[in-house]
Amino acid sequence: MKIGIIGAGLIGQILANKFNVSGHEIILADRKGANAIKAVADAVGVKAVELEEVVLDIDVLIVSIPLINIPDLVQTLKGQIEDKTIIVETTNYWPHRDGNVDAIDNGMVNSVWVQQQFGRPVVKAFSNIGAYSMAAEGKPSGTADRIALAVSGDVQQAIDVVMGIVDEAGFDPLDAGKLEDSWRQQACGPAYCTDLTLAELINARKTTKKDELREKQELAFSKMKELGDEYFDNIVSGNYPDGFVDHAVDINRAINQLKPRKISSKI
Ligand SMILES: NC(=O)c1ccc[n+]([C@@H]2O[C@H](COP(=O)([O-])OP(=O)(O)OC[C@H]3O[C@@H](n4cnc5c(N)ncnc54)[C@H](OP(=O)(O)O)[C@@H]3O)[C@@H](O)[C@H]2O)c1
Repeated sequence: MKIGIIGAGLIGQILANKFNVSGHEIILADRKGANAIKAVADAVGVKAVELEEVVLDIDVLIVSIPLINIPDLVQTLKGQIEDKTIIVETTNYWPHRDGNVDAIDNGMVNSVWVQQQFGRPVVKAFSNIGAYSMAAEGKPSGTADRIALAVSGDVQQAIDVVMGIVDEAGFDPLDAGKLEDSWRQQACGPAYCTDLTLAELINARKTTKKDELREKQELAFSKMKELGDEYFDNIVSGNYPDGFVDHAVDINRAINQLKPRKISSKI
């Protein structure tokens, strides 16, 4: 497939690399422009393009930018995303980083808000795993302890296509149903960044309690703050010291009374 990716940050780069390795044709764009991200694109073997070009004749568009910048992007791309293109969005809502969005604060599911901004169906995927795990993990189908990722959306054909690229990227895809129900994998419930297997993820989504999510997110944020600036520097830079993945996953696991992570990672 031809896949356009918007956002040349941590997630955008990792996905560009994985989809390229899977044999797809990848173009990568970002608000900084093609020249500014050329080195990053070269490093993962894909082509850097301008925003106007990234939406041309593609099967799938991955939007991996902070949630708060989605309305700007939608304005920039107005009328340019072709009807045939499946839009995938990877956002999570972190008011600590994004600032407050009233509709979401008042209970709207974060990806339903994103879908409203686009004014057409989106698929939520690659959102319930940390960049640190996404980079370090990814195993062939059938491997024991393969991490599962939730895929939500309102158009079944689009979910099916996205489940295919999740699988190719090395993760068990879970059809998580409608977007309205995607709060079940939102931050910081048991299905969020806890690196679960398929059976565990299904169970975690079932046990997620909507009214506890915000409190758990505050708890996760305060735990990260306790770890100091170095921890945030690692998170933002993508430079992860030994043991970082297990530590980061276990913060989310502990908040949700899940057992500590035992599977090995390749960092
Ligand atoms: N990091 C994680 O562990 C993780 C895990 C799952 C999901 N997510 C979600 O995935 C998304 C991307 O996360 P990330 O960690 O990759 O973020 P990131 O490293 O900050 O990268 C975001 C990229 O998007 C670009 N961008 C921002 N606004 C834009 C716009 N209006 N148009 C085009 N490009 C724009 C940024 O460019 P500038 O450099 O110019 O700002 C940057 O290159 C976020 O919604 C995040 O919540 C993150």
